[in-house]
Amino acid sequence: MTIKPLIILPDPLLREVSKPVERVDAEILKLADDMLETMYEAPGIGLAAIQIGVARRLLVLDVAREGEDKQPLVVINPEIIAASETRSVYEEGCLSIPDYYAEVERPADVTVRFINRAGKEETLEATGLLSTCMQHEIDHLNGVLFIDHISRLKRDMVIRKFTKVAKSKA
Ligand code: NI
Repeated sequence: MTIKPLIILPDPLLREVSKPVERVDAEILKLADDMLETMYEAPGIGLAAIQIGVARRLLVLDVAREGEDKQPLVVINPEIIAASETRSVYEEGCLSIPDYYAEVERPADVTVRFINRAGKEETLEATGLLSTCMQHEIDHLNGVLFIDHISRLKRDMVIRKFTKVAKSKA
């Protein structure tokens, strides 16, 4: 397994729409393992392939608490097939927008259909933190970031700040 460098805001790759995974082969499983390794190292609770520069509809998640056993989840070609009317608010962050957090409101529960690492279709009813994390990561596959769900004023501020940092490093 390899820890991959993370793509950071304002890299335009983060705005790309990822393409479906055509088949779950050794290459995809290796990519999933690298993503898990990269996510745990960061540390984070979710990572989309585009965050390491691969525009494929593939996510890894693990919302287990500290001290609990790891619960790695590999999610391929996910689709939200139902969302609750009830909404919930979580403070979100993103490995591509380091050290920035903001409250985001989303449907509290979602039902997600996806292909698992065994190549089998699976349906998962996600609640709580897993639901928020799943929606945040699926957004990445569509080029959407959590800052797109906050006020324009705050979003512009964050983008300006990260653009400045990127320029100073260039
Ligand atoms: Ni993110």
